[in-house]
Amino acid sequence: MVQRQVREYASNIEMSIAVAEFICEYANNCVGKQGSFTIALSGGTTPARTYSLLAQEPYITIMPWEKTHVFFGDERFVPPDHPDNNFRMANEHLLTKVPIPRHNIFPIDTQVESVQESAKRYDNLLKEFFVSTDSKPMTFDLILLGVGTDGHTASLFPSTPALKEKERWVVNTCAPEYAASRQRITLTFPAINLSRCAVFLCGGKGKKNIIGTIINDEFDAKLHYPAACVDTLDEIIWFVDTEGF
Ligand code: 6PG
Repeated sequence: MVQRQVREYASNIEMSIAVAEFICEYANNCVGKQGSFTIALSGGTTPARTYSLLAQEPYITIMPWEKTHVFFGDERFVPPDHPDNNFRMANEHLLTKVPIPRHNIFPIDTQVESVQESAKRYDNLLKEFFVSTDSKPMTFDLILLGVGTDGHTASLFPSTPALKEKERWVVNTCAPEYAASRQRITLTFPAINLSRCAVFLCGGKGKKNIIGTIINDEFDAKLHYPAACVDTLDEIIWFVDTEGF
């Protein structure tokens, strides 16, 4: 049974520091046990401060960058230098500022002929990296996720076909008209739910009721909010910035 817990903070900076500390501890535990650490980064705006903190002391020194492998939970089908590109955000706040080997970073390639091709290539990349015959299937040691005001996570939006995907780990999908960059590539539940640990970073206005329902009324939440359908092999931790509420 997956362990679920909620950690509330009075401000975004307090939450971001707590997430940075959690990532450092989790990464070093993984490296101590298995010699490596894999993490899938979230897009959106909330994680930016955590990423900036990880690029500063003490975290830049504590993190085992040489043994860390970075992936992405979703991407907008725009060029890597586009303002909406999640890789660009992580690259600017974190990846260009820390001593991680560039070959340990696996962005979702959006410079291909179609969003379908982008999803197919990332699906193949993940399967080649994680699927081995001598161990039970799993994906990321840690996945960072956000929650939208409609209850989406990654680019798994309510009432979309991507929610029903059972085989592929990555699919292309279309975000609602109110979302930035409608053409998306996203991890699916089969990929997310094979992670050891999911960390939700919950900040920003308009999410109090959704997060409350997800945490307190799991049955109803699973009917409406994709974020409520996230499962993992070990634990799910909600880091909540109540200031934005
Ligand atoms: C994306 C993210 C998305 C995000 C939520 C919350 O590509 O947009 O993967 O799932 O985490 O929309 O975004 P904020 O952190 O900006 O509220």
